[in-house]
Amino acid sequence: METAQRPVATPLDAPAIRRQFPILADPDLVYLDSAASSQKPLAVLEAMERYYREDYANVHRGVYRLAERSTEAYDEARRAVARFFNVPSTTQVIFTRNTTEAIKLVAHSWGSTNLRSGDIIVLSEMEHHSNLVPWQLAATRTGARLEFIGLTPDGQLSLDDLDEHLATGRVRLVSLCHVSNMLGTINPVEEITRRAHDRGALVMLDGAQAAPHLPVDLSTLDVDFYAASAHKMCGPMGVGMLYGRLELLEAMPPFLGGGDMIRTVGWRESTWADLPSKFEAGTPSVADAVGFGAACEFLSSLSMSAVREHEIELTRYLYHQLIELPEVEVYGPVPECRSGAVSFNMGDVHPHDVASILDESGVCVRAGHHCTQPLHDKLGLAASVRASVYVYNTVDDVDRLIEALHRVRSVFA
Ligand code: ALA
Repeated sequence: METAQRPVATPLDAPAIRRQFPILADPDLVYLDSAASSQKPLAVLEAMERYYREDYANVHRGVYRLAERSTEAYDEARRAVARFFNVPSTTQVIFTRNTTEAIKLVAHSWGSTNLRSGDIIVLSEMEHHSNLVPWQLAATRTGARLEFIGLTPDGQLSLDDLDEHLATGRVRLVSLCHVSNMLGTINPVEEITRRAHDRGALVMLDGAQAAPHLPVDLSTLDVDFYAASAHKMCGPMGVGMLYGRLELLEAMPPFLGGGDMIRTVGWRESTWADLPSKFEAGTPSVADAVGFGAACEFLSSLSMSAVREHEIELTRYLYHQLIELPEVEVYGPVPECRSGAVSFNMGDVHPHDVASILDESGVCVRAGHHCTQPLHDKLGLAASVRASVYVYNTVDDVDRLIEALHRVRSVFA
């Protein structure tokens, strides 16, 4: 069996990066739950505090200089997010609360004007609830049908299934996770997009688990919609983004109505602001957007290629250390085809027991169904344990996890 050597170094100086995260100053804390939410570096915390201390006022409303500075901070945050994803125009970057809201925006707005009874929306069996439930609601509302791309035995998408669905000629949209939050699979999204577009279907990607970990260049990816959450990429909770193809966003009706998204308002009808404001009703979460922009700059300063290379090294080591433990079953593909979220079970020890005992050693992992209940059902699992690595994790963190898992074994021996 192939084994992974303990890496001596990775392309990131993870111990130095760790020192930029105040919460990780505790040497006993081994944070391996970044797929649920990442920790925040000083650069993000300080940008948000500076905004509240120095630039705070409502945006798009005041003519005084402070309000102009606040609006400029919001606009600059959008420019930083657009730069990170290489989006040609900031009009194509909509701030949402999170990935779920971005997908819901498309399912509701695009769905209500484009889906008809008999149309097909293709999802996959590895979808997270946020890329499942909004489409269930859209299907119920419009009479469209959901179909699913199945999985190969090693946890990848069956592209034959995709082709079968596309061959019906009824598929209007394929909406998939770019990276699976449970299996860690990195999906071949360029190939999927090419096949879907050849058959006239649009493509939406849930990038929640990809944007923090891989270089994502939306100017070359050619997808129609892309969603991500700041809180998984070193930014704050409460803000995310939707990228959309310009002509689609322009044709779509508003999602939420209210202040800031209008051009004119009468008693009985109104007209809409230009993009991106059309989709941003009400006072936005400006400090969170500022934090998102700072997180994008922080990650770019590390280089997303280096982030990916660092995670390949750590994931390979983690994966091989786990599969060498007796009774541990790891789900998903081999390290080369996956990102740093690794789900597993330890014999019949309940995942919550595993996670609680790991916590006694300072090791934080997620236990449960990770918002992928149908996928767990499909795999015949009630739950699993998930360890996930990020820019601040070191080889020592993996060693600490493995030591703690030995402790779990001795408790349940
Ligand atoms: N979707 C997040 C996760 O995978 C919360 O843990």
